Amino acid sequence: MDVFEAVESRIACRWFLDKPIEPAIVRDLVERAARAASGGNLQPWHVYAVTGAPLAEIKRQVAEQIDGHDPRGDEAEYPIYPKAMWEPYKSRREQHGVQLYGALGVARDDAAGRLAQYKRNFEFFNAPVALFVAIDRKLGPGQWADLGGYIHALMFLARSYGLDTCPQESWARMHAIVRQFANMPAEQMLFCAVAIGYGDHSHPANSFRSPRAAPAEFCTFFGFD
Ligand SMILES: Cc1cc2nc3c(=O)[nH]c(=O)nc-3n(C[C@H](O)[C@H](O)[C@H](O)COP(=O)(O)O)c2cc1C
Repeated sequence: MDVFEAVESRIACRWFLDKPIEPAIVRDLVERAARAASGGNLQPWHVYAVTGAPLAEIKRQVAEQIDGHDPRGDEAEYPIYPKAMWEPYKSRREQHGVQLYGALGVARDDAAGRLAQYKRNFEFFNAPVALFVAIDRKLGPGQWADLGGYIHALMFLARSYGLDTCPQESWARMHAIVRQFANMPAEQMLFCAVAIGYGDHSHPANSFRSPRAAPAEFCTFFGFD
């Protein structure tokens, strides 16, 4: 698989097959993704990779916490989004919701259906492997951007093993449980999780392709004519 195909075929995979991943593949991905660039080569990512019984245990702990409870109200240690959204981001986010819930057959006013889908984040969408990605809380926006680079390198590399991924900021809301579970030092802050597995491409949650704005909407070209 070449790099164009890896980028083109990556999706936020929201359901995975019951198929384990060879542990050596996960170790390889974690290592290779660290070829991502970072300002000053700080390599500011901290990764906790979880599978098997430990994965089942963290899922169990979170299931207990969110039972009868709406986790969308739980605060992460950083503001995942601004409190109010404006254009063009507001419409893009709404469109994303329409696509996702439309594919799942969850109606706009079906609050319980939407909550149930959100809660599937905390099952890692059935993925056999999960990463928690954390950063030193004293680092700033430049290093947070580096985390994005690491995560994307890993997600693209995963495609070359035929694996799918889903980055999950939702897990930042479970920071207290993750911290205790992973023995995460106090100076680190949980950014997100990444689910990894073999995607179930027949599942409705994976049946749509997210749109992108045309370059004219986000890029100003000088001297390319
Ligand atoms: C940092 C980050 C966090 C995300 N968190 C979640 C999440 O918690 N749950 C989820 O279902 N999707 C999550 N997504 C997936 C986005 O919704 C998805 O990337 C976006 O809609 C574009 O779709 P695509 O990735 O399929 O191209 C996240 C993506 C990123 C980059």
